[in-house]
Amino acid sequence: MKPSQIYYAKPSITSLEVQYATDAAANGWGKNCYDYIERFEASFAKYIGSRHAVATSSGTGALQLGLAALGIGAGDEVILADTNWIASAAPIVHLGATPVFVDILPDSWCLDPQKVEAAITPRTKAIIAVHIYGNLCQMDALEALATKYNLHLIEDAAEAIGSHWAGQFAGTRGVFGIFSFHGTKTITTGEGGMLVSQDTDLIQHVRQLNNHGRAQGDPRQFWASEVGYKFKMSNIQAAIGCAQLERIDTLTSRRREIFFTYANLLSGQPLTMNPVPDNGEVYGYWMPTVVFDKATGATQKNVLQRFNENNIDGRAFFSPLSQQAHFSQVCSNPIACDICTRAINLPSYHEITDEDQDRVAATLLKVLNDA
Ligand SMILES: Cc1ncc(COP(=O)(O)O)c(C=O)c1O
Repeated sequence: MKPSQIYYAKPSITSLEVQYATDAAANGWGKNCYDYIERFEASFAKYIGSRHAVATSSGTGALQLGLAALGIGAGDEVILADTNWIASAAPIVHLGATPVFVDILPDSWCLDPQKVEAAITPRTKAIIAVHIYGNLCQMDALEALATKYNLHLIEDAAEAIGSHWAGQFAGTRGVFGIFSFHGTKTITTGEGGMLVSQDTDLIQHVRQLNNHGRAQGDPRQFWASEVGYKFKMSNIQAAIGCAQLERIDTLTSRRREIFFTYANLLSGQPLTMNPVPDNGEVYGYWMPTVVFDKATGATQKNVLQRFNENNIDGRAFFSPLSQQAHFSQVCSNPIACDICTRAINLPSYHEITDEDQDRVAATLLKVLNDA
C-alpha cells in the first residue's frame, strides 16, 4: 500500500477565516460592501510598512496595474531574471513592452546586478526585482543601477511576504511592490494580490486604472477618463485576507521552521538549499528548494518521478522564461538553464508534520544515493 499523500502546498485555514468570510457573505453588502477590503488594505499597509496598499484579484493583476500606471508600453524594455514564473513577464507583454531576461546569481537564484547593467539599453524603462521563493534580491546594487540609469525599480514580492532587510519588508523599497495571495502562498485569499507603494500619485492612478479608468470624485456616472482594467478583490476574499493577516507572524515563522527542519535533515549532503543570510536579512522561505550537486547525477525529472512514486508532491524549479513558447526558445542564460535541470521545491505547508518532512528527506537522499 502506498503511503499517504504529502502535498507541496496547502493553505492554513482556521475558524477565524471561516468566521470573517461568513460575516462578509452574510453582511458585507450595500453600504458595507467595501468594509473588509478597506480593512485588509489598511492592515496590510501597516504590517508591511507602506503608505498605501491596493487589494487586487491577483498578483499578476497588481503587476499589470503598476506597470500601466508607470506608463510602460510599446517600445519599452523591462529587465527581469530568466528564472521566473510567467506571471512576472506576462503583464509586460500585454502592455506591448519587451521583457529582457538576464541570468541569475548561483546562490539566491535572483537577478545578477552585473548582468542587469550589461542588459540596459536606451529603451530600458524598468527593472523587476523578483524575490524568488522568498530569497531576497541584491536591492542595494539594483537601487544604485536604477538611480544611475534613471529606471523604475519594481519589486515582485509575490513569494516573499515576511522576507525583510533588518525589519524593512520586501515590497517596500521599489517604486511599487506586489504580493500574491494565491492558494499556495504563505497567506491566501484563494486568488488575490496587493500592490503597495509610498507614492500617493501613483496609487491614485492605480486605483483609477483598476476602476475601469473612472476618475475619483468625477460626478458623472459610468464615465471613463481612460480605458482601464478591473482587477479588484472581492469583500469576501478580503475577509479571509484579514484573518490571515492577523495570523501572519505564526504563518511566516512556521515557514522558517519548516525550512530549517529540512536544512538540518539534509545538512552535509551533496546539495544546496536557499541561502541563510547573516547580514541582517531574513528570508521568508516560501518554498524550501534543493539543488542537487552535479556529481550526484540526479535530475529534476528523476527526483520528481521518485517523489511521485512515493506519493510526495515535488514541485519543479522554474524553467527559464527565455526558453518558453512566446520568447526566443534559446537558452542564453547558462546558470538559469543549468540549475533548473537539477532542482526542486520541497513540500512546505503550514500543517506538514515532522514525520512527513522525515519521509521527504529520506526519499530525496535515497534518490541522490541511487542516482
Ligand atoms: C514571482 C511571482 N510573481 C507573480 C505571481 C502572480 O501572482 P498570482 O498568481 O496571484 O497572479 C506569482 C504567483 O504565482 C509569482 O510566483
